[in-house]
Amino acid sequence: MGKIKTIGVLTSGGDAPGMNAAIRAVTRSAIHSGLTVYGIKRGYQGMIDNDMEILNSESVSGIIQRGGTMLQTARCKAFRTYEGREVAYNNLKAREIDGVVVIGGDGSFSGASDMVQEFDIPFIGIPGTIDNDLYGTDCTIGYDTCLNTVIEAVDKIRDTATSHNRIFFVEVMGREAGFVAINSGIASGAEVIMIPEEPNQMEKAREFLSERARKNKSSIILVAEGLEDGSALQIAEKLTPEFPQFDIRVSILGHIQRGGAPSARDRILASRMGVAAVDALLDNQSAAMIGIVNDEIMYVPLNKSVKLHKKISRDLIDLAEGICTFGPGRK
Ligand code: F6P
Repeated sequence: MGKIKTIGVLTSGGDAPGMNAAIRAVTRSAIHSGLTVYGIKRGYQGMIDNDMEILNSESVSGIIQRGGTMLQTARCKAFRTYEGREVAYNNLKAREIDGVVVIGGDGSFSGASDMVQEFDIPFIGIPGTIDNDLYGTDCTIGYDTCLNTVIEAVDKIRDTATSHNRIFFVEVMGREAGFVAINSGIASGAEVIMIPEEPNQMEKAREFLSERARKNKSSIILVAEGLEDGSALQIAEKLTPEFPQFDIRVSILGHIQRGGAPSARDRILASRMGVAAVDALLDNQSAAMIGIVNDEIMYVPLNKSVKLHKKISRDLIDLAEGICTFGPGRK
């Protein structure tokens, strides 16, 4: 591999607060090391459509505090094919781009991993997703901001729940992972937390409602999306007829969880990871994801970050158990 002179940076998959801070850090640290930087628009789609432009220090000023991504993002079907990746590679070569930083989640890293195996170009991944479901890093960019958004919303829902003496099923994002649900549930004092990693979650909500019948108190049941029992709405529809004595409502927080100004923690995480990604390319690394574990930068093989499953620790489940009325792991 020769000396890196020109790099591309892109954001891919679902957006996450802090992606702009990462783009800024990649751009500024690359320029500082004498590199030319291309911003690639709309993820891999822009690589295939040849939609890229040179970024300078000024192009990334005033963005660190903004949610979303200035480069825009997409989930690109064409990049899942060899033919699509070949077009993308030829477009990179035509601009003499000799290294790429991808900010995204596991789908984005799986595409990067294929590209590195098929073509002679290094890719480095920066974990950006509110789901926090990537192996090899304690936190992904956007997760902390998302937790803060969720607890602000749940605090507000609790005000109205208390006023009306209602039970609220609140659904949060996380695809098949319960990180957002368990930690926002702990931080908002939810009475019940339901996560896909643990079995019999609907049974726990049912038991809670049966026990609560004697207490008559408003409650928050925090539901992760992706439960095998169904969505919060489906679960509430199944349980409501069994408990006609309760006033049950459902609130799906949805995409507000992906927006908003990034927290200080996410801005710092993104800045550290952005600089580490450029360092990795300059060190001739490839097919690695930047992780931060116990506050130390790690280089995790991309295929490991895609294939290995990040688990919610038993300690955290036990902790939730100890302080919620019905935690996710209750026997
Ligand atoms: O960014 C990850 C995620 O927020 C998941 O939690 C969720 O299932 C998914 O994206 C929804 O994204 P979209 O509406 O963009 O398809």
